[in-house]
Amino acid sequence: MTGTDTIIATPGTAAAALLAARDVLKYFGDDRRPVLEHVSVQLNEGEFVALLGPSGSGKSTLLRILAGLMEPSSGEVLVHGSPLEGPNPSVAIVFQSFALFPWLDVLQNVELGLLAMDVSDDERRRRALEAIDLIGLDGFEEAFPKELSGGMKQRVGFARALVVQPEVLFMDEPFSALDVLTAENLRSELRDLWLAKTMPTKAVVMVTHNIDEAVSLADRILVFGANPGHIRVELKGLSQSDRSEKSAPRARLVELIYRIMTNPEDDAIAIVEQSLQGRTWPAVARDSARTTGARARRYQVLPEVSIDDLTGLVQYLGGIGGHAAVQDLARDLQMRADDLLAIVEATDLLGFGALHERQVALTPIGARFADAELDEEKAIFRSQALDHIALLHHIVRDLETAPTHTLDAERVIDELEHSFSGEEARRQFETAVDWGRYAELFTYDDSSGELTLDEEHTLRRR
Ligand SMILES: Nc1ncnc2c1ncn2[C@@H]1O[C@H](COP(=O)(O)OP(=O)(O)OP(=O)(O)O)[C@@H](O)[C@H]1O
Ligand SMILES: [Mg+2]
Repeated sequence: MTGTDTIIATPGTAAAALLAARDVLKYFGDDRRPVLEHVSVQLNEGEFVALLGPSGSGKSTLLRILAGLMEPSSGEVLVHGSPLEGPNPSVAIVFQSFALFPWLDVLQNVELGLLAMDVSDDERRRRALEAIDLIGLDGFEEAFPKELSGGMKQRVGFARALVVQPEVLFMDEPFSALDVLTAENLRSELRDLWLAKTMPTKAVVMVTHNIDEAVSLADRILVFGANPGHIRVELKGLSQSDRSEKSAPRARLVELIYRIMTNPEDDAIAIVEQSLQGRTWPAVARDSARTTGARARRYQVLPEVSIDDLTGLVQYLGGIGGHAAVQDLARDLQMRADDLLAIVEATDLLGFGALHERQVALTPIGARFADAELDEEKAIFRSQALDHIALLHHIVRDLETAPTHTLDAERVIDELEHSFSGEEARRQFETAVDWGRYAELFTYDDSSGELTLDEEHTLRRR
């Protein structure tokens, strides 16, 4: 096991990100209560990120800080790895309130976006007309804001943001002021534009109060908490195909976010884990779930998977060339998708396989495991388990330090209850024991509830 005990991680590094905030703290005036505390986020190319959270949790403040319209009290903002000073030229913002000038017509309002930039009048006009065209406003160039419906006004807001061809687009509740149908229409147009990559924009951050909106659009969802504003949890968004109205993963993710948001005092990570109940859930990235708040989780969630199923799947994959689509596997092995995904998740945790775009592929070590005779198989498993499974590593370490090299199961379960609900803690323990016994890391006596170190395979002997 290298590095920290947590499994908390965000993809990429701050230096490689388009835009990143590092440990941002923000006070206003003399108020000693921060509005934002310990906020770190990063935005990678190709991402659509949604920010959800209660009123006053600092979402808009964070956008302003990232846009360089406001300085953090401490911490920093990095643009392509370099500290930001002053307004961020790579960002444009769409506001809820449209913020149009009533005395300017549509074309002039859109051109305003380019005023701060050094472009000729002709160029400005040309680009404004292009943006107007892109956003479906042609024919309205000479209209004034008061002649426009809310939806058309917000199109002007979008055109004015997009005319600068921003690398990053921020939207602060862009659809909240619109009626439902207009909002839906604009939202789907925006989604089409984004997916068709017609805009030069490389990433989008959207603040919203609407869970459905976040789930429909976002690749990553950050749920904020208030007092002080902080990120409670980061959830992976759905795949494009799961975003459709009727998909079950979508319903589950909406339900999960709803539970997190209606329980503001609870540890969001614990809510995620309770909802998972030890099963795999493609909608939620455990490895990107992170708290910046009170308690960081110490252990990954081990899917409830038996060694037989795990080795069976790895060997099966080995036999069919090392990779397959999960859907095909479910069909060929006649398994339910969620049971199969739990096993895939376990192979992924152990480093035997990698799940990417619904394809599971064996890693080199996974391929070796698939081919190995029993002794070597166990040795590989042991090594992978100690390196990748924090709980097993800790149990073995504790067994080694205990004078009698034994450990009371209840003690391990008590500790797990800091991270999981009671029932889940027990399930996690049972899975770990199942894997650890197979790896010959320890033995477990069910009746006495005692774990005993297998002296042959201690950490010190590795
Ligand atoms: N310029 C300011 N001066 C003083 N306090 C401010 C200022 N701007 C925001 N605040 C305070 O900071 C806190 C966070 O505000 P912010 O607007 O960022 O929250 P939000 O999450 O966007 O809320 P909402 O969902 O209502 O838009 C609030 O308590 C707000 O009153
Ligand atoms: Mg706001």
